[in-house]
Amino acid sequence: MSIIEKAVEKLNSTEADHRPVNPNCESGVVSESGRSSLEPARLVGRDQSPVSKPSIAPNVSKSVDIEISFADLAERGMVTPDSPRSPIAEEYRSIKRPLLTNIEGKGAVILRHPNLIMVTSALQGEGKTFSAINLAMSIAMEQDKTVLLVDADISKASAARLLGVPDSSPGLTDVLEDENLHVGDVILHTNIPNLRIVPAGRSHDRSTELLASQSMYQVAEELAQRYADRVVIFDSPPLLLTNEAQVVASLVGQVVFVIAAEQTSQRAVSEALDMLDDEVMVGMILNKTKHTFTSKYGYGYGYGYGYGNTRETN
Ligand SMILES: Nc1ncnc2c1ncn2[C@@H]1O[C@H](COP(=O)(O)OP(=O)(O)O)[C@@H](O)[C@H]1O
Ligand SMILES: [Mg+2]
Repeated sequence: MSIIEKAVEKLNSTEADHRPVNPNCESGVVSESGRSSLEPARLVGRDQSPVSKPSIAPNVSKSVDIEISFADLAERGMVTPDSPRSPIAEEYRSIKRPLLTNIEGKGAVILRHPNLIMVTSALQGEGKTFSAINLAMSIAMEQDKTVLLVDADISKASAARLLGVPDSSPGLTDVLEDENLHVGDVILHTNIPNLRIVPAGRSHDRSTELLASQSMYQVAEELAQRYADRVVIFDSPPLLLTNEAQVVASLVGQVVFVIAAEQTSQRAVSEALDMLDDEVMVGMILNKTKHTFTSKYGYGYGYGYGYGNTRETN
């Protein structure tokens, strides 16, 4: 039985028992290996600026576009740079570790585009955006990492809005629609020097189609190559409700799959995981567990990653 199947079975038995989920053993899994089916990138008419270097010192050369309110984030129970020792910051410290290990090429397998990380789940409301922002915050707090948070759940875009970005800001859809616009044009700098945002962009008739288009493939290649020194986190649509999510999953090296404890059914988890390529690295976050550390909302986390036949639970 694969590790994924074991994890799903555990979730299933948890549901059946109606017991609270043990955060230390109810999640986590992955499969592996490099993938070669995608065509090499052809970057046409896009950003010609030099490849940027990791931003270690605060960015003083670029003005801040967005002032993220740490108080708002804290109010929502999220990771904030001014509370690096909060329980949730500690949780995300462990969650990000295997992701960063893979990016550094020190994981069990060498991945294609390990710096591209998709945060997804089976359905809506399971905590994708919540998890994507926390992960982005947590990684941005590392001295030597720059994070690009891409709001790719176009039809339900909320990540950028939660961070204070006006809905009218150009973003991903505009880049996908207009071949003269490139990702660099829509990146917003924030008051967290290592965190930048690509908003979802303005609503277009073909917004969701665009996410599954060749343009999206080109954007992903550009992000992987031109911004290879950055960690790119896609807050993404749910796998079971949209086709685009599967396309985005095929473009990234790592998937963080969010499961809402006592909410996401075992069947939904299985069906959604079946939609992912074997070649992508998959980690799981068990979100909204009830009996771990107490946050204002009474949620906690369980999480874990397993690779091949082994499993590491944090
Ligand atoms: N662990 C958590 N603690 C507190 N609130 C959470 C947690 N996970 C999700 N939420 C809240 O649940 C709601 C749905 O989460 P969201 O991240 O928007 O889901 P999705 O992006 O998967 O649709 C939001 O109001 C979010 O703030
Ligand atoms: Mg969301």
